[in-house]
Amino acid sequence: MDYKKAETIIINGLEFVKFIAQEDIQKRVAELAKIIEKDFADEKPVFVIMLNGAFVFAADLLRNFDTNCETFFIKIASYQDLYSTGEVSFDKAKLNQLEGRKLVLVEDIIDTGTTMHYFMDYLYEIGVVDISICSLLVKPGKLKYDLTIKYFGYQISDEFVVGYGLDYNENGRTLKHIYQLSPD
Ligand code: IMP
Ligand code: MG
Repeated sequence: MDYKKAETIIINGLEFVKFIAQEDIQKRVAELAKIIEKDFADEKPVFVIMLNGAFVFAADLLRNFDTNCETFFIKIASYQDLYSTGEVSFDKAKLNQLEGRKLVLVEDIIDTGTTMHYFMDYLYEIGVVDISICSLLVKPGKLKYDLTIKYFGYQISDEFVVGYGLDYNENGRTLKHIYQLSPD
């Protein structure tokens, strides 16, 4: 069986089932790219790619984005195992070069919103004024902060998901579909 396309997969003893198919993701990501392209017709945005999780989404999104843009990569972390630690860490060096630019923050998933909240807070602190959020997935049921998520692929239920860049302790990032943790 092809691990990367299976209907059900086991990671560290937990079962995940196919949830959003590769073909659907590809279509939705291309749509998002075109929407953002239109909104930034007269400007050159900087896509800030929030690693590690957003690397697959960002690659597909930006290959579908056909006008000029810049990219900036930042490694940012708050999750351990299946849960948010509530502590957000990222490297502040070089972030001040974003001052005065129009940013699109590219994230794989917004869960509690803690990561995005603290990251945006810091960006505002250093003088960035124009920030749009683009997240492939959003879990509205878990959101704890008032975030305006201008661009998103799918709103999903609270269960943990893997695949298409998203991981469970570094497993599952290369899966082509998105999988959701089985209820039992
Ligand atoms: P938040 O800070 O609670 O919004 O969590 C955001 C970060 O946690 C994301 O950037 C992901 O890296 C990770 N994360 C949250 N939920 C999931 C999930 O269901 N699967 C994989 N990673 C997740
Ligand atoms: Mg992430």
